[in-house]
Amino acid sequence: MFKKLLALPLALAVVASVGCTRKSDQAAGGGSASASGSSNEILVGEFGSFTGGEATFGISTSNGIKMAFEEANAKGGVKGKKLVLKSLDNQGKAEEAASAVTRLITQDHVTAILGEVASSRSLAAAPIAQQNKIPMITPSSTNPKVTEVGDYVFRVCFIDPFQGTVMAKFASENLKAKKVAILRDVKSDYSVGLADYFQKKFKELGGEIVIDTSFQSGDIDFKAQLTQIKATKPDAVYVPGYYTEVGLIARQARQLGIEVPLLGGDGWDSSKLYEIGGKAINGNYFSNHYTTESTDPAVSDFIKKYKEKYGETPDALAALGYDAAKVLIAAMERTADLKPEQIRDEIAKTKDFQVVTGKITIDDKRNAVKPAVIVKVDGNVNRFVTTIAP
Ligand code: PHE
Repeated sequence: MFKKLLALPLALAVVASVGCTRKSDQAAGGGSASASGSSNEILVGEFGSFTGGEATFGISTSNGIKMAFEEANAKGGVKGKKLVLKSLDNQGKAEEAASAVTRLITQDHVTAILGEVASSRSLAAAPIAQQNKIPMITPSSTNPKVTEVGDYVFRVCFIDPFQGTVMAKFASENLKAKKVAILRDVKSDYSVGLADYFQKKFKELGGEIVIDTSFQSGDIDFKAQLTQIKATKPDAVYVPGYYTEVGLIARQARQLGIEVPLLGGDGWDSSKLYEIGGKAINGNYFSNHYTTESTDPAVSDFIKKYKEKYGETPDALAALGYDAAKVLIAAMERTADLKPEQIRDEIAKTKDFQVVTGKITIDDKRNAVKPAVIVKVDGNVNRFVTTIAP
């Protein structure tokens, strides 16, 4: 029932009200860690959306992190200590993200924090990590403001000024689109930022934005906006949202007779996109962090191991969760005695570090500079179309 009703607000309300708090992860740590970890454990906190309309984001990320932790623990841990992960569910809400991180720091005394996926939730929590001087790495929040919070906040993904440019170029040069409509989620920092960056670049390339309209995360009826969009006769519609709304938007767009490609960003990446959008989502394009069709052995090896462990193909969130954990583990290894400040310094020094989603070098703004890919949705598979370098 949970699966089927995810897209409905009623189900979200039910899920949210019973939304449980995930306790320390046994697979990764094997048992619970005491406050600040016992002397032979390192306690790392994770906050994510494990329930609600963005649940696949949190679950995939956590799966990736656990895999990296287990691999490190199998090799003797970090500096002889075992990594233990404590994951808290924020139900996809910014307020809950802030309280989860407060709890991880003040009650559990974690050494470092991994999370969040959604930029709005990373933005809600990052000031708390910064004030308490606990390093935080977001695997996948792409809004530039996230790492601007302070010198304890990092990311292992590219940022949206780049991601927006990538799709604007693709729309203009590959799809030869001249007129594009924008449908943005005004409740999401990610969506608003990406829509702006796309728009700027698309205009620079000589394109026209024929309408710029909006919705709010949680909405289920987009017909009014889509009817307006249809009247502008666009060559494509840019929808930088998250998968639950995007799936519904695709269905309603096709029902209303909008046949042009829908374009989006990494927020489309979910095993649920096709489940929600059905055939209507096929043939549309989005920008992403990696492709499962890559022939790079680092990627195929990761996919193989992940499938064996979790029985499904890893999405970009899983890959980025794994990579963020890898960066953190490598930084911890290089410290003298695992003090948060030392970990912070070492994360900042990350250079040419080969992971699944590419080679990570953390720049002076604590961001990773990496290429992006464009994929085309084909049922449950996102077919690789092209790579765009920074
Ligand atoms: N980049 C999105 C954000 O900042 C999150 C996201 C990343 C979602 C990757 C899906 C895949 O909000």
